[in-house]
Amino acid sequence: MNKVSSGAAVDLSVTLGKMKLKNPVMPASGTFGYGREFADFINLDDLGAVIVKGTTLRPRLGSFQHRLLEIPGGSLCSIGIQNVGVDSFIADKLPYLRQFNVPVIVNIAGESVEEFARVTEILSKAEGVAGIEINISCPNVKKGGMHFGVDPDATFAVVRAVKGATDLTVMPKLTPNVTDVTVFARACEEAGADAISLINGLVGMAIDVDSRRSKLGKNLTGGVTGPCLKPIALRMVWQVAQVVGIPVVGVGGIACPEDALEFILAGASAVEVGTYNLVNPRVMIEIIEGIRDYLIKKGVSDLAAIRGSFES
Ligand SMILES: Cc1cc2nc3c(=O)[nH]c(=O)nc-3n(C[C@H](O)[C@H](O)[C@H](O)COP(=O)(O)O)c2cc1C
Repeated sequence: MNKVSSGAAVDLSVTLGKMKLKNPVMPASGTFGYGREFADFINLDDLGAVIVKGTTLRPRLGSFQHRLLEIPGGSLCSIGIQNVGVDSFIADKLPYLRQFNVPVIVNIAGESVEEFARVTEILSKAEGVAGIEINISCPNVKKGGMHFGVDPDATFAVVRAVKGATDLTVMPKLTPNVTDVTVFARACEEAGADAISLINGLVGMAIDVDSRRSKLGKNLTGGVTGPCLKPIALRMVWQVAQVVGIPVVGVGGIACPEDALEFILAGASAVEVGTYNLVNPRVMIEIIEGIRDYLIKKGVSDLAAIRGSFES
């Protein structure tokens, strides 16, 4: 490990495929809008990257009403990938993000392999997109979404098609709703993924005992997100980091610097912060500062030196 004296600069930078991030912290898709929504609270330039809302070929209205329920330690949500569609993203949202010196990663979704590839092609021609995060893990859509993430052959096919459609960094996002997540991570790596992020929401439900109906209305089920998800996400990141050679990005329940550090010690190169942005819009900045303080306290000059150093 490179040792530093207190107060010295530490290197928090991370490389994911072709992207160089100045630090390992970025928002999880769907919890940060298109960046502008948080600009009153933080300077987007301070982030490692910006990941925007799940984007599809055509605009989507998303799920029925009753989409977001607070539960102990997190949320149960079914947004259904409501989004403006790729053309409107490029015309109306991307120009704002271009002013920042931060890689923009677009989270994409689709109902067919061809749709994933087409959205990727369109995004690859737009100036200012650095990476594609493939959402093969959405628990809240009937067609597409998680369907691709629970079948290793379908996972492989989507990642291969997206890779074939772009030179940008490609990062599939895995679902926890499988028995052995490492099978899916390997399929992604074999298909050419540059990095892997995990996890998306764990499918859950809540029943209103008076009406005897789902608290998520006609959506019936939703994704469990937030701090209650962290132990599962951490375990899965640890498992995946041991079997792939590409960078792993940890997502799930991260709410403070210690949470992020746990993922990095488990082998993650970077982290995404989701639900907690809705609790504390400055949490990502606090996490970046906390990671830096930790490295200084430990006398380590480079984040990479602690990655995967968990002792089992
Ligand atoms: C309101 C909301 C919207 C989300 N939208 C998306 C999305 O569009 N695409 C996606 O891949 N994940 C989406 N997610 C999942 C998050 O990106 C993340 O994987 C999950 O919430 C776990 O992280 P967290 O516990 O930090 O929230 C969404 C989550 C929430 C709470």
